[in-house]
Amino acid sequence: MAEWTDRPYRSLARALTRRTVLYTEMVVADDLLHKDHDGQFLLLDASTQESPLVLQLGGAEPETLMRATDVAVSSSHVNYEEINLNCGCPSAAATCCSQRYGASLMHDPHGVATCLRAMARASPNAPVSVKCRLGTNERNGYKLLSDFISIVSSGAGVRHFIIHSRECVLGGFTPKQNRTIPPLRPRWTHQLKQDFPDLHFTYNGGIKSLEMAGRHLLAPHNGIIAEYGSYAGLKEHESSGNEKADEFQWDDLPAVDGVMIGREAYQRPWLLREADVKIFGEDRNPGLTRRKILEDYIVLGEELMEKYSNIHGHRKKGTPGYSTRNLLKPVFGLFATERGGREWRRILDKEWVGGGKLGVREPSLRELLEVHELHLDHQAAMDAMPSELLDAE
Ligand SMILES: Cc1cc2nc3c(=O)[nH]c(=O)nc-3n(C[C@H](O)[C@H](O)[C@H](O)COP(=O)(O)O)c2cc1C
Repeated sequence: MAEWTDRPYRSLARALTRRTVLYTEMVVADDLLHKDHDGQFLLLDASTQESPLVLQLGGAEPETLMRATDVAVSSSHVNYEEINLNCGCPSAAATCCSQRYGASLMHDPHGVATCLRAMARASPNAPVSVKCRLGTNERNGYKLLSDFISIVSSGAGVRHFIIHSRECVLGGFTPKQNRTIPPLRPRWTHQLKQDFPDLHFTYNGGIKSLEMAGRHLLAPHNGIIAEYGSYAGLKEHESSGNEKADEFQWDDLPAVDGVMIGREAYQRPWLLREADVKIFGEDRNPGLTRRKILEDYIVLGEELMEKYSNIHGHRKKGTPGYSTRNLLKPVFGLFATERGGREWRRILDKEWVGGGKLGVREPSLRELLEVHELHLDHQAAMDAMPSELLDAE
């Protein structure tokens, strides 16, 4: 997710779950090719500890996408799990002709297949995959979606599709509206699995908990039902209330192969801590406390701050070019939904605003989270959290 699943966030998520596949922010192919070496490094920076990691590219031009894939695969020391093409982004820029990417590509499935063939040529080890919507306001309906899958899978050998199970409205809606207003139709993704049993489908859209994710991964013909233990009995569906109920029934259809969690995993990352056991059937979760996660995160933050500031150069008035704010964002939600979660957020905001004024030195991540002496009435956020929360696994 753009500006969200950056390297700091991914490292936080990885501390909570080892098995969950993580996705990069979308990297626009054209942008990548126009950067110098340092600029490319900033767009692609990742650690091997983030694996399994998928790189997402945006673009619509086969040659550009091939060269961008080549740059990414050859310059990164991470072995990407997949190279994914974005066919779901609704943003205004996504329809602009010079840098077309996103959902409008769904209008041209043969063109998408050509792009993916080109990307696959540059990525001998990591397969290419597609993230798309159900369609757009201009071209929609299950038949067109199914044609899209058929053409792209047969034309480019793509085996994995991530389906954000709502249409995309091109023009008119903001990206945020496009993630909330068009109704979710989860059943369609399960229908795709029924119609294309040899392909892998990952359901995406509106998942708020591992329990909800589990319901998509369970189905009568799912042979590994026992591994999901307590999810097996779940029947009740969770819709936001404005969708037709039958879109939320898929008991008669096969389970999908995966579930992608977007906003909730960013705004409430703690939910990921049980994914390894509950979703992947591991014996243990990483089991780190928030305190340990934050201590490690501060160390990583200091490394990244130094590395990125060296490349970005320094902003005026002594503040570094790479902002502490970038490091702070992923931890805002670490206590979300807990008693004390608001207080955590409030202190971070207050201290940030207090320390981050123009001309005042930016507070460091360590100062904000754990050091007491920033200024007289400074409160370090970790001090304000009860140890039951900080030290709970
Ligand atoms: C801030 C933000 C940035 C996003 N950026 C991308 C992106 O770069 N590529 C992409 O495929 N989807 C992107 N998305 C969409 C999400 O991946 C996901 O499809 C959508 O939020 C629905 O899933 P959710 O209901 O679990 O959040 C973004 C969403 C948000 C909130």
